[in-house]
Amino acid sequence: MGALGPLSTASSPAPATAATGEASIGGRSLASIRADFPILSRRIGGAGGPSHPLSYLDNAATTQKPLAVLEAIRRYYERSNANVHRSLHTLGEEATAAYEQARRRVARFLNADPTEIIFTRGATEAINLVAASFTRTLPPGSTILLTEMEHHSNLVPWQLAARDRGLSLRFLPVGPEGTLELQDLEKAAGRRLGLIAVSLVSNVLGTINDLSRITAFARERGVPVLVDAAQAVGHLPVDVRALDCDFLAFSGHKMYAPMGIGVLYGRHQLLERMEPFMGGGEMIRTVTLERSTWNELPYKFEAGTPNVEGAVGLEAAIDYLEALGREAVRDYEGEMTRYALRRLEEVKGLTLYGPREPGLRTGVFSFQLAGVHPHDVAQWLDAGGVALRAGHHCAQPLLARLGVNATARASLGLYNLSDEVDRLARGLEGAREALGRGPE
Ligand SMILES: Cc1ncc(COP(=O)(O)O)c(C=O)c1O
Repeated sequence: MGALGPLSTASSPAPATAATGEASIGGRSLASIRADFPILSRRIGGAGGPSHPLSYLDNAATTQKPLAVLEAIRRYYERSNANVHRSLHTLGEEATAAYEQARRRVARFLNADPTEIIFTRGATEAINLVAASFTRTLPPGSTILLTEMEHHSNLVPWQLAARDRGLSLRFLPVGPEGTLELQDLEKAAGRRLGLIAVSLVSNVLGTINDLSRITAFARERGVPVLVDAAQAVGHLPVDVRALDCDFLAFSGHKMYAPMGIGVLYGRHQLLERMEPFMGGGEMIRTVTLERSTWNELPYKFEAGTPNVEGAVGLEAAIDYLEALGREAVRDYEGEMTRYALRRLEEVKGLTLYGPREPGLRTGVFSFQLAGVHPHDVAQWLDAGGVALRAGHHCAQPLLARLGVNATARASLGLYNLSDEVDRLARGLEGAREALGRGPE
């Protein structure tokens, strides 16, 4: 697979206003937005050496949380904590109201109906739910079409389902630019297609997949499409009706909400046809010693005490993102992505994977630095206060396709500044000079 190598050495001026916090999103300065995230004022290092301001560039792994989210969780526990849907006292009713209000907020965020919103622990659990439950409706021998760029969360659950239900898996290839080979759709799908599961944004390449051809193809064949939106919801407007998808999964923690809360959107008619994923309290209507009947949607899929604080935190994160404006966030991150592409291209010996065209990608940059192991790159940068991730990014088949075992990955969030991109580029130059083979 081709990779985006060092292309130019032309100097790249930073976006005029994005350097030190004078930039703005939705009319709010970056300086004031950054002040909403207490952790961003931390300094890193210091034991015997100098400490450095934190530049958090690991947002694809998880994002930091604004005060509005932290305060919403605290308020919930200080005022309304109780179990939901079962206690008739005031606190029980308040907790239930808060939980259901969060569900309605998520529904509006995705342009769905609240009965189509199932709270899960995260994207992983949401995909496992569909893989375990929807596949029971498919005849043995059916095919699940995935792509070569999926996160293990959108691969392994299908492997388990294929093993247990006699299904087969097929894969849409990734081309040299790090985009899906959509012209191969028909060939890749085969003749017994039962479902397509595809990510909206790759966690390794940053590629924004054009799903319109995939959903049109699926529609013609009456086959549902599951969209893994884990790397999309925090960065792009996501609308399930506009996408015309049947299932969509995401995790709160990658969009400024707490860990342990996520969402599965499912089209009402499909969820009605599906059997529960897990059994327990909340998801039943009647129970005898021998058998049970199921609660209505969405509760049929929410067994046990739910993560109410997570739902409340997710609602606060959605409010936060929408107050800034999802288009405004996308535009700002787009500007930073263009700048980061230019700065990374200037780093000698750096091989960057993924689309060259800024409009085709988000601010996720996986790369290798000649002669320096990605783990050493990440450690070197961390010593200077810059937080990156290194490894296989839970996408081993994609890395195998790229011909590598590991990459370093920098990923942007809405609070990152061009100063931080400069620190990254300077840190990489330093790592190459100190640890690498030198200029190529
Ligand atoms: C594209 C993609 N899908 C799914 C997941 C799984 O998310 P979680 O671990 O929050 O369930 C991730 C996490 O990195 C991801 O990047």
